[in-house]
Amino acid sequence: MDYHEPVLLNEVLENLKIEQGKKYIDCTLGDGGHTIEILKKGGIVLGIEVSEEALARAKKRIIELKLSDNFVGALGNFKNIKEIAEQNGFSKVDGILFDLGYSSYELDDGGFGLSFLKDEPLDMRLDKTLGVTAADLLNMLPEDQIARIISGYSDEKMARKFARAIVSSRSLKKIQTTKELADLLRSETSPGYEHGRIHPATRTFQALRIAVNDEVANLEKALPQAARLLLPGGRMLVISFQSLEDTIAKQFGRSARPKVLEVTKKPLIPTDEEIRENSRSRSAKLRIFECA
Ligand SMILES: C[S@@+](CC[C@H](N)C(=O)[O-])C[C@H]1O[C@@H](n2cnc3c(N)ncnc32)[C@H](O)[C@@H]1O
Repeated sequence: MDYHEPVLLNEVLENLKIEQGKKYIDCTLGDGGHTIEILKKGGIVLGIEVSEEALARAKKRIIELKLSDNFVGALGNFKNIKEIAEQNGFSKVDGILFDLGYSSYELDDGGFGLSFLKDEPLDMRLDKTLGVTAADLLNMLPEDQIARIISGYSDEKMARKFARAIVSSRSLKKIQTTKELADLLRSETSPGYEHGRIHPATRTFQALRIAVNDEVANLEKALPQAARLLLPGGRMLVISFQSLEDTIAKQFGRSARPKVLEVTKKPLIPTDEEIRENSRSRSAKLRIFECA
């Protein structure tokens, strides 16, 4: 089975300062890539995952590797980290990791409707208990709200034009698949869009995913709770893949109560070698905070 390649793995392990018998929370378990290495170093890990399917995959993998003795898996949203941690005996920990976004499995194979290169239902919910899909948003919201979501969560310069095209298209037929949306957006752009560097649907798909999963609010709610779970000297690591999340983490470090210190002046980024081997790591930024 192909698993998600953990990003900035060495940097994460080094900066979480893993020690045998100490407790860590992985807020975004995914395929367990980071958690498995923490377990191998003797750490005790609570892995939180919002997708039931992802949690089941990771648990199976961890059991197969005979690492499950020091692992607790919890289905839930990290916006409730305090409650989840307390319920599982992790109310004071030495390290916390957020590896934001989605896994390779969710993008490529999971049928989540996250990829504009596939033809799938336009869903995007990582947590299937959420009520509203990306298709619902596009088929129900007024044009200006669609434009605000697209520009607000992705800086897409063509947000207004895209929103107009979406509303016009849906009056003929509801937009229901990733391909329908990707084709529509492409038809609205000239071949020179962004100098051909990115697909015209890239930013809009990102914005819709953020809106559907309420990603900004989740992170804003989680960071202060997480900081309170840290023991003195404990560290919180945040890996983000887009500027909105990175800005939230950066601002949090400046104004956090309880106080946390950002350990490095600038976020760590992947080496050229990592980017060559795993192109999905290219936009990753790792911020490291330490509890005073
Ligand atoms: C980038 S992947 C993590 C990959 C993991 N570090 C690994 O190496 O396998 C992000 C994971 O976080 C999950 N996720 C996203 N938002 C979440 C949230 N609010 N609460 C809990 N899990 C979340 C996604 O379902 C996805 O599996």
